[in-house]
Amino acid sequence: MTMDDPASELLTDPYAVYARLRETAPVQRITGPDGSPAWIVTRYEDVRQALADPRLSLDKRHALPGSYRGFALPPALDANLLNMDPPDHTRIRRLVTQAFTARRIEELRTPVRRIADDLLDAVAPHGRADLVAAYAAPLPIAVICELLGVPPHSRRDFRDWTDALVAPDPAQPGRAKEAIGSMLGFFHELLAHKRAEPADDLLSALIAVREEGEDRLSEDELMSLAFLILFAGYENTVQLIGNATLALLRHPAQLAALRADPTRIGPAVEELARYDGPALLAIRRFPVEEVTIGGVTVPAGETVLLSLASADRDPARFPEPDRLDLSRDTAGHLALGHGIHYCLGAPLARLETGIALSALLERFPRLALDTAESELRRRPSARARGLIALPVRF
Ligand code: HEM
Repeated sequence: MTMDDPASELLTDPYAVYARLRETAPVQRITGPDGSPAWIVTRYEDVRQALADPRLSLDKRHALPGSYRGFALPPALDANLLNMDPPDHTRIRRLVTQAFTARRIEELRTPVRRIADDLLDAVAPHGRADLVAAYAAPLPIAVICELLGVPPHSRRDFRDWTDALVAPDPAQPGRAKEAIGSMLGFFHELLAHKRAEPADDLLSALIAVREEGEDRLSEDELMSLAFLILFAGYENTVQLIGNATLALLRHPAQLAALRADPTRIGPAVEELARYDGPALLAIRRFPVEEVTIGGVTVPAGETVLLSLASADRDPARFPEPDRLDLSRDTAGHLALGHGIHYCLGAPLARLETGIALSALLERFPRLALDTAESELRRRPSARARGLIALPVRF
């Protein structure tokens, strides 16, 4: 089975493929998204255990030579948490946690609501919109810019860059490299600006941690962190807002219940993330020694893909998993990962998605899909599940 063939069912209907794999071959060797062999793990218990297994490394140096051909980032972007194991991971994560505080996230509540309302004001007179382009994408960009402290005059469309990395266009092979170059230039300038004029934002706080602490961040680590926060924080949130809105529109009774009691938005976001989260796969892992997963032996150095989407649809963990049920107990869902790499931005992801959905539903009581369901197109990626466009009317 291959994951990268655009016609592959994994791109068009991943949940059906995963359901079959869970039943027949829960730990299976396949051709992964980068064209090289990989093991895919699909049952909840196996995925959860593997996420917390210290023998599964995120450091590419543990990959067998020639076995892994993921996209190559320059060192200034590659020294990031999602390529690292303890003790480096522990040190950096502790330093970021000092700067990425609950207070900083809570302070974003009012700006996030204002950004959401402004975007909705702009589309309201038109009666219809592509919700991805007009809302789901610009909202997280603006929020990440607030968080990092990107001044308004240097805000730009990060969508091109992140698209080039997440869903590369085979017709434009140079684009990913170009995007990486542009991002590096952008962060160099931004960091220089923050050094000259520190402010009350996450980047300034990270720079202070780098320059003052005993346990410092290297310059590459600082750049890589800024990149990871932009990349992880932006991309996933766009997709979750889009997927969640579509799921609600497809389930009118659930939507009506949420409208009737908007205080249920918190648990609703958890179920929407479980039901159709954007991160289909965790970051690839490499066993540092031979490991046994679900009774199958995986040799050291081979690539292991853990399917978060499949785990969250495993009937052994979530009864009737293919049913959206905003009142279900979603404890333990894996949409934001698990273990030491558990999403660092989870509180922000929750805050942002909750506010985005609440503001949208409040503003547009008659929100409806403005196209046939069969016309909806998803991005061609086996890793990141998201809509190219979501036409709605209101
Ligand atoms: C809906 C939104 C989001 C989803 C579904 C999501 C999902 C995830 C997942 C699944 C992981 C773990 C990957 C793995 O173990 O292989 C992760 C890690 C991470 N996420 Fe998120 N994320 C979201 C939003 C954010 C936001 C808003 C930020 C930052 C502002 C962020 C920053 C990070 C970082 C820095 C890591 C790496 C943590 C580490 O390695 O210790 N994410 N995310």
